[in-house]
Amino acid sequence: MSADDQKRRAGEAAAERVAAGMIVGLGTGSTAAWFVKALAARKLPDLRCVPTSEATAELARELGLPLSTLEDTPRIDLTVDGADEVGPGLALIKGGGAALLREKLVWEASARCIVIADAAKVVKTLGRFALPIEVVAFGHKTTANRIADVLADHDIAMPARVRQAERGLVRTDGGNLIYDAACGAIHDPARLADDLKLITGVVEHGLFLDLADEAIVGTDDGIEVLTP
Ligand code: A5P
Repeated sequence: MSADDQKRRAGEAAAERVAAGMIVGLGTGSTAAWFVKALAARKLPDLRCVPTSEATAELARELGLPLSTLEDTPRIDLTVDGADEVGPGLALIKGGGAALLREKLVWEASARCIVIADAAKVVKTLGRFALPIEVVAFGHKTTANRIADVLADHDIAMPARVRQAERGLVRTDGGNLIYDAACGAIHDPARLADDLKLITGVVEHGLFLDLADEAIVGTDDGIEVLTP
């Protein structure tokens, strides 16, 4: 079975957790897209959906899901979103799709968060996937030097690299840049998260700690449910 089939299984199972009338946070990425499609197919009445990116908003709009914003619906019942890595205690790396800031804002406003993933995303130690760090464009090379100092303090020798697209630097929906830090292994995610947040110019990082209430992992045999 392909990773995409596993993502679909996880997304479809998560859509079953949604009830009529809920305010639902919609994640970003290929796994979250399966959830959005499965949710739209259920045609539940009185939903309001808060998307975490312009891409997800467009998909949800095409599928006829009613959209809202964090300003209009600041309390979200349930958010379902993908991840790049799912580690012990459901500590996550997110942001491979550059939507980490809006994702974290929506996750933190949610009473419950479910992460959905294919089986390969589950790891014993976070850090094989490069950690995305969202940085303000103004003075970003100076900020990158400060990030390198913090990484070195965590025994991570590789400096973070600015994310490039075919036509220049990747910009987030908020107009910021993404630096990817090839950590290898993150031995103390909580301390790294705190240290990165203290750098002026860092807007957000992709460590999502103590936020996921449940993981639904698609496997070749069905789904596996993990809790922190
Ligand atoms: C978006 O910024 C990310 O946090 C995604 O949730 C993550 O990259 C997972 O993407 P896929 O579901 O496409 O693997």
